[in-house]
Amino acid sequence: MEFVCLRQRELVPVPFGLETAEAVSLVLNYITAYQMLHRSAKVKPGQRVLVHGASGGVGTALLQLGRLAGLEMYGTCSARGASAVSDLGGIAIDYQHQDFVEEIHRLTGEGVDAVFDPIGGTHLWDSRKALRPGGRVVGYGLITSIRGEGLTSGRPGRRQRFRGTTIFGLYIAGGWLLPGRKRVIPYSIQTLKRLKPEWFRQDLIALFDLLQQKKIKPLIAQRFPLAEARHAHELLGKGGVIGKFVLALNGPSHELRAA
Ligand SMILES: NC(=O)c1ccc[n+]([C@@H]2O[C@H](COP(=O)([O-])OP(=O)(O)OC[C@H]3O[C@@H](n4cnc5c(N)ncnc54)[C@H](OP(=O)(O)O)[C@@H]3O)[C@@H](O)[C@H]2O)c1
Repeated sequence: MEFVCLRQRELVPVPFGLETAEAVSLVLNYITAYQMLHRSAKVKPGQRVLVHGASGGVGTALLQLGRLAGLEMYGTCSARGASAVSDLGGIAIDYQHQDFVEEIHRLTGEGVDAVFDPIGGTHLWDSRKALRPGGRVVGYGLITSIRGEGLTSGRPGRRQRFRGTTIFGLYIAGGWLLPGRKRVIPYSIQTLKRLKPEWFRQDLIALFDLLQQKKIKPLIAQRFPLAEARHAHELLGKGGVIGKFVLALNGPSHELRAA
């Protein structure tokens, strides 16, 4: 048996009756999505957003929460994720066969109000081209992309880290200096939790409430016993997984970790 000691203020009660696999699935992806929408991009009903990786864990959370916020949504995904994206209210753009910047301007005219980009690197600048004047690109997953472990990165290394950090710094500065008021801003769940721990609690409580009211539903792709963690990671590595894998410690009623 292992124990973890936490300060009382770090704890958020899980409302009675929630399924543990769904509750655990909220903690990383839905907080990330919720805070990017409401704390970073500060979206308003009727605005247009572009979600990259829209069939993934954070992407599907962004679509569910974006629909509740009354947004018009576009999402990049491969062909196999297109139906999941449209089921959640997004207009799918196949990133493998279409130029998303051209597609966004064809569909919206002047561009979107916000883009959520976990790809990083030069992709952030393309995302900026999809904005309307005054819009924001929220870059996340940047620590993984800077380490060379991101969605499209190659081998990790110091050079890659240096390049990733420099490019990102230039894009943030370019957003402020170039005309068009199109900003590139970073989001990191760890940094925001450190700076604003009360937001983390408030947002998780709001999400548990939405889950209890059945207004959101985390997509759980598959459940595995903990002993099959390696197999689960191998399947994740092959891509094409829609939603979360949940590892259960002692069978279905003791799910503890979501990957
Ligand atoms: N900063 C934070 O606070 C934070 C929090 C959570 C996650 N993250 C990071 O965010 C990233 C995404 O996490 P996740 O859990 O959503 O991952 P995920 O479930 O693996 O989903 C990633 C999705 O991206 C798609 N994809 C891959 N390359 C793409 C491209 N070039 N354009 C558009 N879509 C592309 C994949 O689709 P196909 O498989 O169909 O190609 C997949 O659906 C990861 O790097 C993760 O580490 C950061």
